[in-house]
Amino acid sequence: ESPLRVALLGCGTVGTAVARRLVDRADEFAARVGRPLEVVGVAVRDAGKPRPESGLDASLFTTDADELVTRADVVVELIGGIEPARGLLISAMKHGASVVTANKALLGEDGPRLYETAAENGVDLYYEASVAGAIPLLRPLHVSLAGDSVQRVMGIVNGTTNFILDKMDRTGEDLADVLTEAQELGYAEADPSADVEGHDARAKAAILASLAFHTRVAAPDVSCEGIMSITSEDIRAARKMGCVVKLLAICERRQDERGDESLSVRVHPTLVPRSHPLASVREAYNAVFIETELAGELMFYGQGAGGDPTASAVLGDLVQAARHKVTGSRGPGESAYADLPILPMAQV
Ligand code: NAP
Ligand code: HSE
Repeated sequence: ESPLRVALLGCGTVGTAVARRLVDRADEFAARVGRPLEVVGVAVRDAGKPRPESGLDASLFTTDADELVTRADVVVELIGGIEPARGLLISAMKHGASVVTANKALLGEDGPRLYETAAENGVDLYYEASVAGAIPLLRPLHVSLAGDSVQRVMGIVNGTTNFILDKMDRTGEDLADVLTEAQELGYAEADPSADVEGHDARAKAAILASLAFHTRVAAPDVSCEGIMSITSEDIRAARKMGCVVKLLAICERRQDERGDESLSVRVHPTLVPRSHPLASVREAYNAVFIETELAGELMFYGQGAGGDPTASAVLGDLVQAARHKVTGSRGPGESAYADLPILPMAQV
């Protein structure tokens, strides 16, 4: 049986964890997909760098990502940022590959264009790992709750800032000291200002709002304040008030007196009473509350960052996309929302 060809773009914190698992559990993947998966290449910046921890043969590493995406059945993008990731994913889909990505910055900025390209080319586009790392969140929000009406999504969706705020609360350390530790643990973005200035959480809030409210919200629509101005004195003052400081992403559906709907989507540091379940979310964990008309309250909790937890979500998407290649079917296309009205954003 001929293997399905998998191309990896990026072999850093997440890419290495993905590659290692594909190598170590090849038989399990073959059984779950229905055909073996073969990694046909890995695009990186430095193809000569030894990467024994990936478990992959050195000959697979290349700097020619443009060529690699033309000869794969599924492309897994773990480079991050807007370009070249966007161009590579679009090229991959035009060449018939389904794509899996953990890239929230790209989805938050240009998601609809990617959905449209996936629909035009009849391929899957999956990005479960882009919000809240390991937590199975986007598929439940998009698929399982499609018959309900989501009113509110609120949560901690950035592991780095939660790690920093939690450590500042427990040790009294300053933000700068704790940020270095979060970077060393592989939680932070390549440019950690994306985490501490709230831009990472803003992109995630845009993705959550788009799926929750079946509309299109882009990252620039989301009002955003990060944690750079939070000092150890602020944390101590919050403690005296019986609170912790958390960076929250909040997506709400609102209705005015005439019944017209709008959305409020925002990210900002928030005082959370210690008795609240979100206050006990430690380290780089994430937690997301969803309130709906029929289901009521739902809560999702788990590791929001790091190589292995993120690889869990990426690999789940890869199995799904690869199975669809085997069976000739497609997953839920967000392009189904293309004709829905875009809800106006409320002024914050
Ligand atoms: P990373 O450790 O910085 O790794 C990035 C990889 O991409 C490296 O292997 C790098 O090559 C490669 N790369 C960068 N620019 C490239 C280019 N122009 N062409 C080809 N390869 C290129 O990043 P990461 O932490 O694994 O994150 C990857 C993605 O997952 C990002 O979208 C991030 O937002 C997302 N994500 C990360 C986490 C997490 O906890 N880390 C969690 C969820 C989602 P070299 O190795 O040669 O430098
Ligand atoms: N830098 C991100 C975070 C990675 O800290 O949450 C996970 O998306």
